[in-house]
Amino acid sequence: MDSKIKIALFASGRGSNAINIAKYIRANCANLEIKCLVCNVQDAGVIDYIKEFDIPVVVIPSKGMDRLAHEELVLESIKSYEVDWILLAGYMRVLSESFLSKFSNTIISKIVNIHPSLLPLYPGTSAYEQAYENQDLYSGITIHLVDAGVDTGPIILQRKFPRMDSDSFDQFKRRGLSTEHELYREFLNYLNKGEQRITQLVDLTLKEKSNEELKSRSLSTELR
Ligand code: GRF
Repeated sequence: MDSKIKIALFASGRGSNAINIAKYIRANCANLEIKCLVCNVQDAGVIDYIKEFDIPVVVIPSKGMDRLAHEELVLESIKSYEVDWILLAGYMRVLSESFLSKFSNTIISKIVNIHPSLLPLYPGTSAYEQAYENQDLYSGITIHLVDAGVDTGPIILQRKFPRMDSDSFDQFKRRGLSTEHELYREFLNYLNKGEQRITQLVDLTLKEKSNEELKSRSLSTELR
């Protein structure tokens, strides 16, 4: 690969995903480079934790700010880093269509999100709670490209994890979080091999989905 793929991390909270990504890239991904971390919460834990990585931190508090004005500021502040990919790692804000189109001129958005459910199940902010309350036998994690909807973009990778009968909500969530970290590392392995690998994964998931739809359609005709 000629030059490294330049990444901006976006986070809002304690930052376990952001730290996991930073650690993994430093040790294993020679073709990836984190240019900055963007945080929209003034006192978020991630700001402190990321210090050991020597990554520039851009803090732009979003509280009380108009969405578009905030996004303009973010784009302006990261412009000089010439970022190729944005990895959302617990960034608790929905990005507007205008942000997406300004950031990415390519066919696929180069913005990735991690979500703690097997999407399209449980989009939104209470995925762990819903899976636990419904006593699902397993739940899972999704890494997907970001579109203008809430957790609706094309799926890149998914991984299941079990819910044990004896699980407290915290134990269930902890198992989920370590699956989040594993899945982000798997995504980074693919991205490290080149952007086309990500497009291939998206195509594969789309094909699998349409096969499943075809199968269930023909099953329902058989049953009629
Ligand atoms: C994670 O569960 C992520 O899936 C969700 O927000 C949480 C962030 O955790 N979007 P952390 O800040 O990365 O530890």
